[in-house]
Amino acid sequence: MPQIIHERPGDAPLIEPLLDRCFGPDRFKKTAYEVRKNIEPLPELSFVTLEGERLVATIRYWPITIGGRTPALLLGPIAVEPELQGKGIGVALIRKSLTVAEDLGHRLIVLVGDPEYYGQFGFRNAAVLGFQLPGPVEERRFLVKECGEGALEQVTGTIAGATLDTEFAGRIAGARETEKLVSSLAAFAPPADA
Ligand SMILES: CC(C)(COP(=O)(O)OP(=O)(O)OC[C@H]1O[C@@H](n2cnc3c(N)ncnc32)[C@H](O)[C@@H]1OP(=O)(O)O)[C@@H](O)C(=O)NCCC(=O)NCCS
Repeated sequence: MPQIIHERPGDAPLIEPLLDRCFGPDRFKKTAYEVRKNIEPLPELSFVTLEGERLVATIRYWPITIGGRTPALLLGPIAVEPELQGKGIGVALIRKSLTVAEDLGHRLIVLVGDPEYYGQFGFRNAAVLGFQLPGPVEERRFLVKECGEGALEQVTGTIAGATLDTEFAGRIAGARETEKLVSSLAAFAPPADA
């Protein structure tokens, strides 16, 4: 049965080819990469799914701001090994990571993806709220999720990677806390049918 664990330092060399298999070599041209180019994914919100010893899926979240002042997270990429897609691995990974993000107090999560898929997790259109990305995006695929009432109030503007002085509503876990989180959430299983 697949297990979800925090991403380990040695996983990155396996994640890159998985992303190539899922998104193709042009993936670096995507606007989301422009947002992420000077920031690092948050270790406490980076997960992988293992089937036995094999890494079969990845998800990462990045610290961003909206309109230069509202802290938020950018979700992505999420990718599941092509031959294992459609078995519930993606849903389990998204649900688990969203729970951790909300537990840490994050209030807004942005992504670029299909609304037909992400609607089930509470994502809605961000373009109609006046959100912008620093590059081209298909407006219907630009989505945001509000964690907690009122998080979207008066929030609008362009998405950018967060700078070091950004104050986050949700906590960015320090190294020691991340270690604690990683060991306490070491492994949990997706639904039995995954
Ligand atoms: C998108 C992705 C992460 C979903 O993970 P997954 O494990 O395949 O998905 P799940 O098994 O949890 O969910 C499958 C269900 O979602 C649906 N689904 C998957 N991708 C979808 C999409 N882009 N749009 C609409 N529905 C989608 C499937 O049709 C399936 O529906 P069903 O249960 O009614 O048959 C995975 O397919 C993937 O890695 N795709 C390639 C990379 C990618 O597109 N990543 C997302 C970019 S934001």
